[in-house]
Amino acid sequence: MAVKNAMTAEFLRSAYGGESMAHMRYLIWSEVAEKEGFPNVSRLFKAIAYAEEVHAGNHFRALDGDIGDSSVFAGGVFGYKKTAENLLGGIMGEEHEVEQMYPAYLEVAKMQGENEAVRSFTYALEAEKIHAELYKKAKAAVEQGKDLEVKKIYICPICGHTVTDELPDKCPVCGAKKEAYKEF
Ligand code: FE2
Ligand code: FE2
Ligand code: FE2
Repeated sequence: MAVKNAMTAEFLRSAYGGESMAHMRYLIWSEVAEKEGFPNVSRLFKAIAYAEEVHAGNHFRALDGDIGDSSVFAGGVFGYKKTAENLLGGIMGEEHEVEQMYPAYLEVAKMQGENEAVRSFTYALEAEKIHAELYKKAKAAVEQGKDLEVKKIYICPICGHTVTDELPDKCPVCGAKKEAYKEF
């Protein structure tokens, strides 16, 4: 069902814009990490880029409105540096989403009874917390000239939940089966 309230719709469009930019930015930074000789950090960026694609898709579908143009105001981190700095950019973006953006968007969506948006914002918020922590781990490693120590990275295609090495029996955020996770 289409979003009824203008403010929730605006937040969904903005979050869609922010997630879309994050998706692209992480793919660009993934290439930098690969070239710098950090294949696991490169893979982490690629995996999280996919999680952001999942979030963008959820927000887009939650809007479910008529076809038409919109100008979108959305926050995005910019900068094309070496991997340690790019990871700091990643941390900044994720922390902004965790501390400011999604909690505020979520409260408005709840207040307005927009259940699809509540779900979509909740899915993103939970994943971004994990992204921030993984980028912090990666940054600490890279600053010592080492690659991130990680085996597999898994992303839930429904909610973007992100987990390393060991898969849970089902997604703790959306309940998807472990077989659904995409492996990186
Ligand atoms: Fe996201
Ligand atoms: Fe994220
Ligand atoms: Fe999930």
